Amino acid sequence: MAYSEAYLKLFVFVIFPLHILAQTKFTIPLGSSLTANEEITPWLSQSGDFAFGFKQIQGQNQFLLCIYYAKIKDATIVWYANGGYPVPRGSVANLHPKNGLNLRDPQGKMLWSSGPIVSNVAYAVMNDTGNFILVGVDSSVLWESFRYPTDTILPTQILEIDNKLVSRKSEFSFSPGRFYLRMLNNGNLVLVTQSKPTNFDYDAEYYNSHTSDPGDVANSGYRLIFDELGSVYILKRNNQRLMLTPPNVPSISENYHRLSLDFDGVLTHYYRPKSSSSTGDQDQRWTTLWSQPDNICLAILEEIGSGACGYNNVCHLDENQRPYCECPKGYLLIDPNDKYGSCKPKFVPSCDELGQENPQDLYDFDVVTDVDWPLSDFERIYPCVEEECRKACLEDCFCGVAIYRSNSCWKKKLPLSNGRVDTTLNVKAFLKIKKISK
Ligand SMILES: *[C@@H]1O[C@H](CO)[C@@H](O)[C@H](O)[C@H]1NC(C)=O
Repeated sequence: MAYSEAYLKLFVFVIFPLHILAQTKFTIPLGSSLTANEEITPWLSQSGDFAFGFKQIQGQNQFLLCIYYAKIKDATIVWYANGGYPVPRGSVANLHPKNGLNLRDPQGKMLWSSGPIVSNVAYAVMNDTGNFILVGVDSSVLWESFRYPTDTILPTQILEIDNKLVSRKSEFSFSPGRFYLRMLNNGNLVLVTQSKPTNFDYDAEYYNSHTSDPGDVANSGYRLIFDELGSVYILKRNNQRLMLTPPNVPSISENYHRLSLDFDGVLTHYYRPKSSSSTGDQDQRWTTLWSQPDNICLAILEEIGSGACGYNNVCHLDENQRPYCECPKGYLLIDPNDKYGSCKPKFVPSCDELGQENPQDLYDFDVVTDVDWPLSDFERIYPCVEEECRKACLEDCFCGVAIYRSNSCWKKKLPLSNGRVDTTLNVKAFLKIKKISK
């Protein structure tokens, strides 16, 4: 061992200078480091399109080690280290020959590393594709961010079987959220929800590419490809493609492209003109080229889990087909900063007052039309008229909400899940509330 270690050191000593000569000024030599603070100069790609560095998290004294678009004003982040968890000011990222990329807190404690590396690292490159690469002394690629995507993939990036994208928690919180894009072993690309990242199984599937062919493995998908022209497709082993992108893709030389699993669960292919100094960046926005699913409020229907929004919350679709969540009357957000989270009822049904007073004197209903919370029923009454439905919930101390539709009444218990606006059903919800005592 001692011999091989000495040999390796000698080897590095001899070879390394040659590699330095081969490098351009855009490679990042061993021993380079970045320190988390506002003044940081990131490691740039040759074109200057992408940067690797620390970004301050909005409104916090915390920094995220990440890859972002360096030339656009909002510096959209496309990859992040440390599971998306930000680190304190003064944390240091450095390049080590054996551990690769290391992230340490100001006290020197290791927070994250790109992992053990078999061969010695010679240098790193922030590639113009947005891929951060650790290059070995033999010029091989030892580690690359493209192989460990977070919530986004970029042109020339491939999502292989068993790889995944995970949504972030919210717009400015990058830790893992509830939505996953997975390339499954059977050849299907799926969007699924998972309430706990450690769960072996997921809660619900809300998109499926149907590219699995159990009778013919060759006819099954195995890669999600974002090609160098900006097209996204599922490649089958027989080389057939299922295109996800529409036929006319905005030019890749004039536009940035990214495919992101947004924090609201929608998989979205965005593009945006690269800014030029003449036009400036002011009016430029990310535009949606395509997205999946079309209506996430309706697409997510799960026995376990809360649905597209949090518990008791109601999912609405805006004019751009994006979901937003609004607590129903009589309910409030648990975390006022997390509009997509769960809502708490101001009134919780209780059986304690049973028999003391007439329920008519205690409770009333807020009536909401075109809102449904499928599943989470505990009783169904059919046939039934509206007044009977109301009365049934009123007199049932477990009932928090009754749903009335086409002569049926469903009594529901809290928390409610899968809340959505649905104007096609002609549905009425009776939300039980407490009468204000006179
Ligand atoms: C680096 O970027 C160039 C284009 O700028 C591309 O051809 C090459 O494949 C990239 N290398 C890796 C390892 O991603």
